[in-house]
Amino acid sequence: MAREFTRVGVVGLGTMGAGIVEVFARNGVDVVAVEVSEPALARGRATLARSTDRAVAKGKLAETDRDALHSRVDFQVGLEALHAVDLVVEAVPEHLDLKRRLFAELDRICRPDTILATNTSSLSVTDIAVATDRPQQVVGLHFFNPAPVMKLVEVVRTVVTAADVVDDVEALCARLGKVDVTISDRAGFIANALLFGYLNQAVGMVEARYATREDIDLAMKLGCGLPMGPLALLDLIGLDTAYEILNTMYRHGGRDRRHAPTPLIRQMVTAGLLGRKSGRGFYTYDKPGSAKVVPDGQTPAPTRTVPDSAPVTTVGVVGAGALAAGLVEVFARAGYPVLSVDGDTGSSAGISDTVRTALDEDVARGALDAADHEATLARITRSATLEQLADVDLVVEAVAEESSVKQALFARLDEVCKPGVLLATTTSSLPVIEVAMATQRPADVLGLHFPDPAARRPLVEVVRTIRTSAEATATATAVCAALGRTTVVCGDRAGFVVDALLLPYLNDAVRMLEAGYASVDDIDHAMKLGCGYPTGPFEVLDAIGLDVALAGQRAVYREQREPGLAPAPLLEHLVTAGYLGHRSGRGFRDHSGR
Ligand code: 3HC
Repeated sequence: MAREFTRVGVVGLGTMGAGIVEVFARNGVDVVAVEVSEPALARGRATLARSTDRAVAKGKLAETDRDALHSRVDFQVGLEALHAVDLVVEAVPEHLDLKRRLFAELDRICRPDTILATNTSSLSVTDIAVATDRPQQVVGLHFFNPAPVMKLVEVVRTVVTAADVVDDVEALCARLGKVDVTISDRAGFIANALLFGYLNQAVGMVEARYATREDIDLAMKLGCGLPMGPLALLDLIGLDTAYEILNTMYRHGGRDRRHAPTPLIRQMVTAGLLGRKSGRGFYTYDKPGSAKVVPDGQTPAPTRTVPDSAPVTTVGVVGAGALAAGLVEVFARAGYPVLSVDGDTGSSAGISDTVRTALDEDVARGALDAADHEATLARITRSATLEQLADVDLVVEAVAEESSVKQALFARLDEVCKPGVLLATTTSSLPVIEVAMATQRPADVLGLHFPDPAARRPLVEVVRTIRTSAEATATATAVCAALGRTTVVCGDRAGFVVDALLLPYLNDAVRMLEAGYASVDDIDHAMKLGCGYPTGPFEVLDAIGLDVALAGQRAVYREQREPGLAPAPLLEHLVTAGYLGHRSGRGFRDHSGR
């Protein structure tokens, strides 16, 4: 029989602590909510009130239930109030000394059978546990922000945590409507270990002015379907908390430079730009604690003269794979006459048949009417040779991801196409400048990266090289807008924005699996339930193809030479063994249908 927790304590009523109080009280558990001072207590009480009032305003919580929830919370200054609780969850700032002192105090004050839990994000639970005389009753109970919303709790057991304590805490998580993953004590556990390298790298991109904060956030939301971009998420987490987590992960997680906090984070913390809680971080909010972004009042950037974009009326797409088919469909649906050059692969079905099937499905789903279906197909002309591209205004290439193949193609396009034609490569792992220099017109060459194989996502990364003209960039952006796509403009760096941020995270997940720290299912669960990702890293890897991910990661590693970016050996081995994901019937999971 699992232990009944009727009265629990929460120490520290910051963003996380106040959220944890709400989780308990919503689920019928009495809470003693403790802070160090009256003002801090008042802030915690206000955070709880704001959250529950919002739930009432949205019709998600009845007023009577809100009042009942509040009546379950006993706000107190000082730890002595915790003498009779069954469990204490600590959520004070991420400083080991502070937490150790606090646990020693709790050990003295609480009943001998009370379980002591820490919500630490990255510190060692073992280090905290040994500050007490009851380390077997100390666990990590790691909630995610916003605690009332995110379903995941990481239960961290140390080498001395008693098995029945873990069982009791797991049962409590279920009662709170949470899903737990139970893991051992390692810096960053599952989710933060995979999240914070990515967040830090995104800050590095802002600092290097590689892309704007808005474009980086947009790229990850639209390109990967994430609920928030990395910079908005850092504002939610709090820059001060993020700094401490990165610092700990750097020092205790193998001194991977990717976890060394980007200097900009430190500067923002020093300047009091802590994110939502202080009213300003990467974005400015209408008041502290609010989620509403307002223009941040900085001097607007000087308006740049936007160069004229050249008119594009006809488009050529070269290639015979899924991406080429997706592109032909996207352009034809947007009204462009499209010449599809798919002859070089000897494909008998041809792109038009693939497009017809996709359009049939759209008609069946009611997403396209029959007249548009026919009109779209009528805009597609098929050609086996490149010569007919002489008349188009834009050529988009989606052939094999090999430098020599793409360079040879661009050299041919240079011969065939009329002057001034925009030449675009969809490469995901090669430097765009390499293909540009295969032509005599590098100013007209750029990358158009569609971050998914069927070009279905609404995002396009427009990649300009150091030779791309401003007019070419403007033309590409205008064409993408005509396709109904959102564009993000970035420089010619391996992985551009989306892959440069996504692939290292996927690679880290493989390393974590390889180290035996957690299972494929637990890691996927943690990222979906803790961070709201639509799919877990192994689901993504199986979907995009392990070989594709490996090629991309190799390119990122080759360019940045950062040891932590080296492809995970397990990823290399699986690719060598032919485990490529959905495409081969087996990747990190079995998709053979057996
Ligand atoms: N408190 C309580 N409820 C909240 C809330 C808060 N602070 N913020 C949002 N909600 C609720 C809303 O009321 C709404 O509820 P409903 O669906 O019942 O109406 C729901 O969440 C969705 O909110 P919104 O419609 O306002 O906004 P979004 O749809 O954009 O969702 C979000 C907001 C849930 C924060 C979503 O953007 C998300 O999942 N983001 C990712 C968050 C994440 O990654 N968290 C983990 C961070 S890492 C961490 O915490 C570890 C730590 O150690 C640092």
